[in-house]
Amino acid sequence: FLDLRTLLFSGIDSKAEIGLKWCVQLSWKKSISKQHSCQKITNLVFFYLQGWVRSVRSQKEVLFLHINDGSSLESLQVVADPSLEKRDLTFGSAVEVQGKLVKSPHRMQNMELQAETIRVVGPCDIWSFPLKMKERHPLEYVRQFPHLRCRNNTLGALLRIRSEATAATHSFFQNNGYVHIHTPIITSNDCEGAGELFQIAVSWAKDSAEETHFFNVPAFLTVSGQLHLEVMAGAFTHVFTFGPTFRAENSQSRRHLAEFYMVEAELSFTESLQDIMQVMEDLFKTVTSTVLSKCPRDVELFHKYIAPAQKVIISYSEAVEILKQAPQTFTFKPEWGCDLQTEHEKYLVKHCGEVPVFVINYPYDLKPFYMRDNEDGPQHTVAAVDLLVPGVGELCGGSLREERLPFLESRLQRLGLTDAYQWYLDLRKFGSVPHGGFGMGFERYLQYILGVDNIKDVIPFPRFSHSCLL
Ligand code: 4AD
Ligand code: MG
Repeated sequence: FLDLRTLLFSGIDSKAEIGLKWCVQLSWKKSISKQHSCQKITNLVFFYLQGWVRSVRSQKEVLFLHINDGSSLESLQVVADPSLEKRDLTFGSAVEVQGKLVKSPHRMQNMELQAETIRVVGPCDIWSFPLKMKERHPLEYVRQFPHLRCRNNTLGALLRIRSEATAATHSFFQNNGYVHIHTPIITSNDCEGAGELFQIAVSWAKDSAEETHFFNVPAFLTVSGQLHLEVMAGAFTHVFTFGPTFRAENSQSRRHLAEFYMVEAELSFTESLQDIMQVMEDLFKTVTSTVLSKCPRDVELFHKYIAPAQKVIISYSEAVEILKQAPQTFTFKPEWGCDLQTEHEKYLVKHCGEVPVFVINYPYDLKPFYMRDNEDGPQHTVAAVDLLVPGVGELCGGSLREERLPFLESRLQRLGLTDAYQWYLDLRKFGSVPHGGFGMGFERYLQYILGVDNIKDVIPFPRFSHSCLL
């Protein structure tokens, strides 16, 4: 198969003139300007289209179809003689159409396919098919059908955007000298120390002794690739990972999943949170502008893109003061030393003018063992940073890591973790450098840039407490 976009821009059209038959797909519609495609397309002799029927309109003298192949939001109009109509040529069916691509007399589209043959590859029973022609199904409705919802325009657009954002994330890091690391999914540590682990058991184990037997130690699905990235940052300076992450949070909220994707970066020779915040910002801006330029029509469908023009940086202590002075009452009373709740994050973002807010320097006792001690007082803090954004709350979490052996040793000792983290202490003995990094929730990123209310609608197959469909 030849992608028509490639065909149009590689000068092959002269071959088309001499009568070669080209097999092309629909994806050209994504990026080619109307005049350009119109002018060149007339040279094409033949067009071979495969896709799914989005609409069928049968008139006395002509049959109209709209066919979509998933490469873009656009469908191609097919015009056919009514004699080509078949009983199973319905909405949702899979078809192959051969014909001539011609200039369309219609004002709304610049070309259409004059069908010579239509083959129904896979019929679709419209009565039991849960998606209906020309209906705008609410996202909650299509969520019930994880095996079919990708055929819906909104989900289709979303998953194409997700694909572009994934590629753009990799490009951002690769172009900036980061080495990509496949951090493990199965691990024996709890990086965040929050106890939100899924433990792994073999399906044939009869008792708990047999369960641990497989790895000799209890093993879990990773909650973060950070500790493994820190290992690698000790050799490659700048590293990143982008993979699935698992948290057994018993939450039905619209921003939590049991399985989500996290983009994580780790930077050696970094002594300031400012450096970490700069990478977060650059990553966000670069990926977002790539997504906008690669799939503008898909993004347009959401109408809610927020371009963060400015940002605000406040300390955790300042944040607590702002919350204490708020004219509203919170369910969780803001108190220095307590975690910021969703309602607090929301208020802080609003207070700062609905722009991204970096909150830095959190209480020492609130954060995981790996964060760098700020050695301040009397309110003892660590060099942590959370990025809060409108509509979503926490998008990124990061910190400088404790690179000083005595500090780390005493903290791990107090937590009773010295034995488990000998290898981590080793990293501080053999060429330790100041370093730091962060993780960005990829689904929350998509939620934010597209204004999608529920996180379950930005991942192909959502997993959350009490639900694991398919
Ligand atoms: O703030 P978190 O817990 O940070 C870490 O795990 C660090 N070890 C990352 C690092 O420094 N390398 O998680 C990072 C981000 C959060 O800010 C949030 O966007 C997302 O991951 N996240 C979730 N997204 C969806 N569902 C959940 N249950 C999430 N938990 C965290
Ligand atoms: Mg966090």
